[in-house]
Amino acid sequence: MSTKHAHIGGESHQSIPVEMLVVGERLPFDLYVKERGVLRPLFKHGMVFTNMAKEILQERGISETFVESASSSLIDSYISKSKQEDDTTIDKSPVFRKYSFHKDQHYQIDRKLILPGTKVSFSIYSLDKFDLSQIIEADLDSPAVVESALTDLPGDLVINKSQIHLYNEYISSLLRHPESAKNMPRSVKPVAMREKSKMVIKDLLDDPRSGDTIKKSEDVVTNLVDCMLENNDAIYDLLSLSNYDYYTYTHSVNVAVLSLGLGNAVNMSRAEIEELGLGALLHDIGKSAISQEILNKQGKLDDIEYRIIQNHVIEGQNLLKFHKNISDNSMTSLMQHHEKLTGKGYPFNLIGKDIKINGRITAIADCYDALTTNRPYKQAVSPFNALSIIAKETGNYDPELLRAFIKMLGKIK
Ligand SMILES: [Fe+2]
Ligand SMILES: [Fe+2]
Repeated sequence: MSTKHAHIGGESHQSIPVEMLVVGERLPFDLYVKERGVLRPLFKHGMVFTNMAKEILQERGISETFVESASSSLIDSYISKSKQEDDTTIDKSPVFRKYSFHKDQHYQIDRKLILPGTKVSFSIYSLDKFDLSQIIEADLDSPAVVESALTDLPGDLVINKSQIHLYNEYISSLLRHPESAKNMPRSVKPVAMREKSKMVIKDLLDDPRSGDTIKKSEDVVTNLVDCMLENNDAIYDLLSLSNYDYYTYTHSVNVAVLSLGLGNAVNMSRAEIEELGLGALLHDIGKSAISQEILNKQGKLDDIEYRIIQNHVIEGQNLLKFHKNISDNSMTSLMQHHEKLTGKGYPFNLIGKDIKINGRITAIADCYDALTTNRPYKQAVSPFNALSIIAKETGNYDPELLRAFIKMLGKIK
């Protein structure tokens, strides 16, 4: 859901989840759908969007529609009609689908990092389900000083996507000036590190061939490892625990942190841990080539869609061929994170010892993070239940690593 722009046509289309379309209203724009990777106009502007039209989309497994970016200014007033309508039908439709629409227009930031007394050059909003309210108004020319802690505000704190670079600069300066961090709570450094890491991986997924972001990914891993070795409890602060944060960049950082933690727990060397962490960070880079519509589809995937998703492993391998410095051990995380010891995984159906330790570790971290994150198509399970589910898959995961993983998570709770 994170992408509001279709791959085809570059940045020219903005997405609207089918759930947000207003039944009984005239469409103020042409509505496109994406099928087999091709974007095509399906409903003309001016036509009344009917229940039947919605059902047709849902029957075809389409969860996301697209509008030309040139018409994007019409979206807000159109969506507000959906809000009025939904006040009476809120129980019937999952709230987080609508919530996630707003999240597409904004970028979630971490409230722990917005400290009283600091100066910010970006506007901050509170997003509580449908309600977006401005908390701080600021831009580069007129920065604002944060007057009080924002920790008790309801909902999530978000900024406009156009101001991400200013938030990035804010985080960098927090990390650059440890002296200013003296009075900060202990967890600010790992949280800032996590926010920085997410932005690097977001850039990488937006442009997976960029050598510059690969270099930055290596720096991310080095910093994460430093942070974890400095302070054992940092793992908890490095993980994003926000229930609705199901973007691939957040997942990638979480899987890297969990893998690094597990590598450390089983006494890997620093060099081995760094190779493992880089591979885990990049493990889903192949998903950058898959449409959000398929990645977040509600309901069952058809055969072709399933194969497209599975292909993210090979797609990732192809993408990383551009980058000569990725070691074989790092590649193992990417190539083997969906393999299972029983041979029931993909893409190679490897069995037992053919799956190397980096693949085994990344597989556990990947499965755990996927289970504990809400998706448009399924609810998250609790950390405890996630571990029970993984443990019950007898034979699929390395039992010794799984024991170390459970012990590690037990320690950081
Ligand atoms: Fe994957
Ligand atoms: Fe993954």
